[in-house]
Amino acid sequence: MSILQSIRRDVRAALERDPAARSGLEVVLYYPGFHARQLHRVAHGLHSASVPLLPGLVSALNRFLTGIEIHPGAQIGEGLFIDHGMGVVIGETAEIGDDCHLTQGVTLGGTSNRREKRHPTLGQGVVVGAGAKLIGAITVGEHARIGAGAVVVTNVPAYATVVGVPGKVVAFYDPGNDTTVRLPDPEWDRIEELSQKVEELRAQVAALGAQLGEHRQAAATGHGSAS
Ligand SMILES: CC(C)(COP(=O)(O)OP(=O)(O)OC[C@H]1O[C@@H](n2cnc3c(N)ncnc32)[C@H](O)[C@@H]1OP(=O)(O)O)[C@@H](O)C(=O)NCCC(=O)NCCS
Repeated sequence: MSILQSIRRDVRAALERDPAARSGLEVVLYYPGFHARQLHRVAHGLHSASVPLLPGLVSALNRFLTGIEIHPGAQIGEGLFIDHGMGVVIGETAEIGDDCHLTQGVTLGGTSNRREKRHPTLGQGVVVGAGAKLIGAITVGEHARIGAGAVVVTNVPAYATVVGVPGKVVAFYDPGNDTTVRLPDPEWDRIEELSQKVEELRAQVAALGAQLGEHRQAAATGHGSAS
């Protein structure tokens, strides 16, 4: 695929995934995610050619202009859409498959201080919600969806939906049947069980209180009639 075709695919990705986008011209003129992706092409090209300093300078300019920080070494596939963009951080050894969708505040961050693979790898078609943090050399399977605000520190299977802190799989999409299967939530089930128990105990305490009141009244009446 030529560079021009690849850039066109970025524009198409924005048009397909952002209902607010009206035309390709809009995307090209004022979509920071699109600008960040194109500046990263330059930074990554210079980085791959082992040019000193310049890749980092282009990356810094990119952050200054778009609020999106992408290390020149990060590998990005075709058709990436970064929605809004501000605060997105993509680390040096991150790998992003084709047709992924990131939103503002997403971090693909590292945990290790060593020069090794230390950032996430996203498969094809992964969607990452606003503010989600994906940390470490984890793998996110194709078409997985990461909920807004999730903190993901372990591998995510393909087609899974992950939410929460730490991120947990709550559902799987079944592409064969085009259905999403929700997983049971044992913690929530336990909370429901305990709430039910509390209600039962509250009813028992109320019944015992009523009985005690009757006994007291009977005792008081008995005492009154004896005197
Ligand atoms: C995770 C996500 C993809 C799931 O979408 P969905 O399949 O439509 O799922 P639902 O909204 O039906 O939610 C499924 C369950 O997960 C919970 N949930 C959904 N998103 C969640 C999130 N980000 N954090 C915590 N829980 C979440 C819901 O409360 C629901 O729980 P329940 O089954 O106990 O009622 C979606 O909620 C999300 O976070 N998308 C990101 C959107 C975003 O960042 N937009 C910003 C654009 S600028």
